[in-house]
Amino acid sequence: MKIKIINGPNLNLLGMRDNHIYGKETLSEIEIWLNSKIKNENSIDWFQSNYEGMIIDEIHSCIDSYDGIIINPGAFTHYSYSIRDAIESASIPTVEVHLSDIHNREDFRKISVIKDVCIEQISGLGKTGYLNAAKILIAHENKRETSSF
Ligand code: DQA
Repeated sequence: MKIKIINGPNLNLLGMRDNHIYGKETLSEIEIWLNSKIKNENSIDWFQSNYEGMIIDEIHSCIDSYDGIIINPGAFTHYSYSIRDAIESASIPTVEVHLSDIHNREDFRKISVIKDVCIEQISGLGKTGYLNAAKILIAHENKRETSSF
């Protein structure tokens, strides 16, 4: 299966940004780690942007070319109805991931406007959240293929 991983604003600063919250690894190090854990029959492509419109365009570009999306929208999680609508319109199984535990931080972070259009939300597991999200999408795809026989 083909999975796109989309990371939103400020996640390009991982490694130097709030290490006590987000860990010491850079986004590139997380990419290398995750790619090494995924079996060959599945492929992962990564995208990061600090711009809402570019994230929306990226979601649209996944239509008919990706089987699943993993998205960490950064702070857009908490207020971007446009990203929410893009996920809903694309109709591609999507898992929401947060490195930190958004439910145990500031109140504004507890709200996710994209949660309802995702098949699952993973929060507070660090980079393992991306791996778990990939496993969820792969299991979801396998179930879909089996049930279509
Ligand atoms: C985040 C949590 C968001 O609240 C924050 O704005 C981020 C990162 C996370 O991965 O924990 O940029 O999505």
